[in-house]
Amino acid sequence: MSRAVVVPADAGDAVLPSDFAPLLIEWQRRAGRSGLPWQHTRDPYLVWLSEVMLQQTQVSSVLSYYPRFLARCPDVQALASASSDEVMALWSGLGYYSRARNLHRCAQVVVRDHGGVFPRTAEGLQTLPGIGASTAAAIAAFCYGERISILDGNVRRVLSRLLAFEGDLAQQGPQRELWSLAQGLLPVGPTLDDMTAYTQGLMDLGATVCARSKPTCDRCPVRPICQAHATEQTQRFPIKTRRLVRRFENWWLLVVRDASDAAQPRFWLERRPSSGIWAGLYCPPVYADEAALLAALPESLRGRLEALEPVAHSLTHRELRLHPLLLQLPAGRVQPLPPGQWVNASDLAAHGLPAPVRLLLQSLSH
Ligand code: ADE
Repeated sequence: MSRAVVVPADAGDAVLPSDFAPLLIEWQRRAGRSGLPWQHTRDPYLVWLSEVMLQQTQVSSVLSYYPRFLARCPDVQALASASSDEVMALWSGLGYYSRARNLHRCAQVVVRDHGGVFPRTAEGLQTLPGIGASTAAAIAAFCYGERISILDGNVRRVLSRLLAFEGDLAQQGPQRELWSLAQGLLPVGPTLDDMTAYTQGLMDLGATVCARSKPTCDRCPVRPICQAHATEQTQRFPIKTRRLVRRFENWWLLVVRDASDAAQPRFWLERRPSSGIWAGLYCPPVYADEAALLAALPESLRGRLEALEPVAHSLTHRELRLHPLLLQLPAGRVQPLPPGQWVNASDLAAHGLPAPVRLLLQSLSH
């Protein structure tokens, strides 16, 4: 019979089903996925690589990339000492290339700052490049049995249906609230194997049963305690306002810097079109995604790109997230570049630049 536990204050007074974890663990062991190549290991390098590859990519695509990557970079030391060209080439086709650059940087940080050993807690893992809260939780749960919940998009869908969670997941407050509810659903006193089965169970349920448009509730192990199912409202959850989602935009900036004259660096800027955002201002060439930016460059330059910190910038009708990729031009080489012109660092003040671009270029002017 369903017992209930009351979760900590930060999750409000919600009463959570204590049957969730045992039902999920039993189901995962009996019917969940068990033959994926990144399962049955406690090696954080192997788990981390799989989790990063799986972040925005289907399991079916990762299945061929994962062993190929490992054949070339079997451990964190091998990855840290590989060239960026090689890492980009191994990633080529998987998309979202910032993942590959962060992966490489992360391996270098683990080797340089952590003696080649990954931190043993989700908190420590999260300090590394490219490891967000959910990925850190997955590694810590799979490798060390830490009692912590993952919360990627699939899991948000599962839990918001289970709990008929009314919060708007386009907003940070409700996202945090759902995370603390997720923590309240974890198994009590779990072994390492329990945490593995539970975490994999959350992933499996989201990927194979609790689908976005047509969940197969008759195969679901937690159907008896699912509040969305009980009220025939699976389609209403998760709640996420469209407006906010639409307003968010990612822009990729190709910041080309020529420092062959050390006293006077210069930047390659384009004049923005006369209508639209930043009309008529000077700006590094802008791309809607990273693949388009890479395609605009000769292959020999792609491995030289360095990802700078993303910059958030609010406009009246949009939330921009700028992803600057810095290309330091090799001295004395003339490169085919997208349309634009050179602007000396000392002349920036004389050009109209969007505020966040001015700050960015100023920080690169010395
Ligand atoms: N998606 C993210 N992590 C995964 C995992 N470990 N197994 C299957 N799919 C996943």
